[in-house]
Amino acid sequence: MDSIIVKGGAELRGQIPIAGAKNACLTLMPATLLSDEPLTLTNAPRLSDIRTMTQLLSSLGAEVAQLQGGQVLAMSSHDLTNHTADYDIVRKMRASILVLGPMLARDGHAIVSLPGGCAIGARPVDLHLKALEAMGAELELRDGYVHARAPHDGRGRALRGAVVDFPLVSVGATENALMAATLAHGTTELRNAAREPEIVDLARCLRAMGAQIEGEGTSTITIQGVERLHGATHPVVTDRIELGTYMLAPAICGGEVECLGGRIDLVGAFCEKLDAAGVSVEETDVGLRVSRRNGRVDAVDVTTEPFPGFPTDLQAQMMALLCTANGVSVLEEKIFENRFMHAPELMRMGAKIDVHGGHATVTGVERLKGARVMATDLRASVSLILAGLAAEGETVVSRVYHLDRGYEKVEEKLGAVGAQIERVQGE
Ligand code: UD1
Repeated sequence: MDSIIVKGGAELRGQIPIAGAKNACLTLMPATLLSDEPLTLTNAPRLSDIRTMTQLLSSLGAEVAQLQGGQVLAMSSHDLTNHTADYDIVRKMRASILVLGPMLARDGHAIVSLPGGCAIGARPVDLHLKALEAMGAELELRDGYVHARAPHDGRGRALRGAVVDFPLVSVGATENALMAATLAHGTTELRNAAREPEIVDLARCLRAMGAQIEGEGTSTITIQGVERLHGATHPVVTDRIELGTYMLAPAICGGEVECLGGRIDLVGAFCEKLDAAGVSVEETDVGLRVSRRNGRVDAVDVTTEPFPGFPTDLQAQMMALLCTANGVSVLEEKIFENRFMHAPELMRMGAKIDVHGGHATVTGVERLKGARVMATDLRASVSLILAGLAAEGETVVSRVYHLDRGYEKVEEKLGAVGAQIERVQGE
């Protein structure tokens, strides 16, 4: 298994290009299942999660060609030859559940393995299933699989429009329901829908395919089902989590970094916290320029919330910054229980953190110290790299396969702005 070795202390200067969003791409790819015409995505990130989704779509009979080194995904789902998403693929990546709504809406049947638990909590899929049931799907849970049926009606549609009132905001359930509703008979109203930029991106892509959608980016999305969707080409939105991660690098190390393709509207709540901590963010013609105002940042309290609140996917990285802040910060995790596994690893580097339930109290120290640490999940792993950039001495982050799920060329991107970072191939 590969490791990443970071030597701390260098100031960072230069530009970092931000890729297309992993989470947007993972929901845009299953949209190909809604049409028998080609769907092409540009600005796709080159990540192992994208390869896993490619594998899943291929197993269903879709064709996925990676062009231009993987930045363009040319997909075609002319015929689906298989309607079962197998456990062996689904267990690798929870986003696999996103093939359920499209397959059901198109062909009236689908079997998808339940994803099971993951490192950051129970993460059930009940809201996905309830939304599809409201649209007329009959579901049965058997042998760890969801068996879904919705026989076509006289008009050739499997699902029917419905009012779906989500009891809590779920990104994935909103995406599954949105895709399914595009081909349903009649109107669907999704209430308490997620407002994340990835949902807006999905709605734009579906509209380019001929779907009738209004209200994306607000908490009520209305979809008028159509008989069929056609082909389209769609650029994937910028990855706001990769953006926020690299914005934290100069905040932790000092220096000045411009994140190319960055936009404030993608990271508004995060920028407010950076400002409160003493980090400047300036919009330029090509992105966002970030620098620290003083020698050491100030402590700030952070609560994770659905968009437009502070994203849970930036909580671990923000904690790495606050480990060296002046004063005491409290981080509250409201989206996923058990999402503080990075805390004990950061403590191995000298951080002072007290985790109690959904809160972590971080008392800033002047300097972290390099150590051997272990990545426990995707965002946790990059938080350890950020901490390593600020630490005295050498930090070795092992189990970096988590990192490769969500960050392309992390060592190249950070190395190009002056970080001392290298990947060591393991056996
Ligand atoms: C997506 C993102 C993930 C991010 C998360 C929250 C992708 C591939 N992943 O995950 O990176 O951290 O949004 O911004 O886009 N819940 C239920 N029942 C359900 C679904 C969710 O109880 O059926 C709960 C979850 O356990 C969690 C909360 O709802 O507590 C939010 O989860 P959700 O927004 O669905 O996250 P994902 O779509 O899985």
